[in-house]
Amino acid sequence: MTPFNIIVAMDPDRGIGKDGRIPWQLKGDLRHFREMTTTTRDKNKRNAVIMGRRTWDSLPDPFRPLPGRINVVITRNEQLRLPEGVMKAGGLAQALELLDEKGIRKTCETVFVIGGAQIYEQAVRLKGCRMIFSTQILHSFPCDTFFPPFADCFYQTSASQRHKEDRIEYLFAEYRRKDSGQPQAV
Ligand SMILES: NC(=O)c1ccc[n+]([C@@H]2O[C@H](COP(=O)([O-])OP(=O)(O)OC[C@H]3O[C@@H](n4cnc5c(N)ncnc54)[C@H](OP(=O)(O)O)[C@@H]3O)[C@@H](O)[C@H]2O)c1
Repeated sequence: MTPFNIIVAMDPDRGIGKDGRIPWQLKGDLRHFREMTTTTRDKNKRNAVIMGRRTWDSLPDPFRPLPGRINVVITRNEQLRLPEGVMKAGGLAQALELLDEKGIRKTCETVFVIGGAQIYEQAVRLKGCRMIFSTQILHSFPCDTFFPPFADCFYQTSASQRHKEDRIEYLFAEYRRKDSGQPQAV
């Protein structure tokens, strides 16, 4: 299976969303997300972002598809129409298979699962999920959508200094799968 990483922003209760949106607006976190998911070591390659259909729907028009990245949307709706170049998959396994196909594998460097809750829930269980890049929002928000518990299978490898925006403090933490063997480049 294609190895992949998760990227997420969550509050202290693992809240990630409310009413189909992300409850906070933090420029530093958006910049971090863009840099993490876009930057490649090989300038001839792109990274891929896999997301659930609801997360796709939640992206503002100017950022849909997310530029500079291979976008893959997971849906059960075979009729769903997506812009040219955006890939559609009937599940997470199929999304990873599509990215493993010869033509794409050569041009795709790192795969990120970017949400939402339904897709994270499936992704954390897969051994192919190597790292979780988490923005820890240090303030509780009312949320109706949550990241699944993950402490049993992942351990923290780093945490950044705290950042503050509009009185909201946050930091960037990284977690590695416990049974993923030797640390690997991501
Ligand atoms: N804080 C963060 O980092 C972050 C990141 C991303 C999203 N979010 C938030 O999370 C919320 C959205 O999450 P969500 O859990 O409601 O939705 P989601 O995971 O983004 O998308 C759910 C949709 O994915 C498809 N899907 C899920 N499992 C599937 C399967 N096994 N096979 C085929 N298709 C499948 C279905 O699409 P169809 O209905 O089309 O079949 C389902 O309705 C929003 O509030 C969003 O803002 C937060």
